[in-house]
Amino acid sequence: MDLKAFIRRLPKAELHLHIEGALEPEMMFDLARRNGVVLSYPSVEATRAAYAFRDLQSFLDIYYAGAAVLLHERDFYDLAMAYFHRARADGVVHAELFFDPQTHTARGVAFETVLAGLERAAQDAEALLGISSRLILCFLRHLSEAEAFATLELARPHHHRIHGVGLDSSEQGHPPAKFERVFACCHDLGLRLVAHAGEEGPPAYVWEALDRLRIERIDHGVRAAEDPALVARLVRERIPLTVCPLSNVRLRVFPDLARHNLKQLLDRGLCVTLNSDDPAYFGGYIGQNFLEAAEALGLSRSDLVTLARNSLQASFVTDAERAPWLAQLETVAGES
Ligand code: ADE
Ligand code: ZN
Repeated sequence: MDLKAFIRRLPKAELHLHIEGALEPEMMFDLARRNGVVLSYPSVEATRAAYAFRDLQSFLDIYYAGAAVLLHERDFYDLAMAYFHRARADGVVHAELFFDPQTHTARGVAFETVLAGLERAAQDAEALLGISSRLILCFLRHLSEAEAFATLELARPHHHRIHGVGLDSSEQGHPPAKFERVFACCHDLGLRLVAHAGEEGPPAYVWEALDRLRIERIDHGVRAAEDPALVARLVRERIPLTVCPLSNVRLRVFPDLARHNLKQLLDRGLCVTLNSDDPAYFGGYIGQNFLEAAEALGLSRSDLVTLARNSLQASFVTDAERAPWLAQLETVAGES
């Protein structure tokens, strides 16, 4: 079986996917037309050509501008359904979707509009495509603690429709501890906790996310490799990392895929998972991340099985939901 077919056949969970980052330029233009929104670039081609990022912030500026076309429940539904179709084609059996309500409420879009569209797509994805999913609300860390609390208040009546919370946006200068009290409230509500840390920020932010936010998974976390004591802890406590190889190259965390450290992290015993982050902006969905990482780093089929197994084990589903996917994975592994 060729590598691409093998990757596709591996049942996998995607655990680090910003739904706003799945907005392809074609859909951006369709929605702009539908909603009467004027975009900064004249065409789909010009938009794609602008996706040459220097760092995280240069990406975020364009990403937040693109999200301006999302106004109605149907827009969020269409966006999420388009993602679920791509995910199914890549062999994703379960996806945990990040969404950034503050990007939308700041433009006058109701929290309920965002949630209703995403939730309806999640229900249809389950019924029509057989993909299970969860929604994870992310707080924008460049905004204040008070704004995060205000968002939590908007979410509170719907907290049973949201599985967890995360922390994203500009990392440098916005340490996890800024949101310690917000995460404590989320913990008390029974929400699962994750945070971006160690993408551009230092290993100290990963320690903080663990100790002060009590997070269960680290999003990115690749800079943890700089701190052997931190790596030892992540291994000992089996804290998963949701690594996004194509994103890291596009945002210049690594100069190219051949110099990405995910294989080293895997070999050191970390629970590494592969994900697409913002696939419409970074050159590919989860299958492409697996394929390009495998080719650039010489990952074996056994490594690829481990990455897929890690993603199922690191997901927030119940053991009963996980069991058939793990069994299916072992069958595919046996065929390779
Ligand atoms: N929001 C969307 N993608 C992100 C990333 N890679 N890092 C931080 N915030 C984000
Ligand atoms: Zn991310």
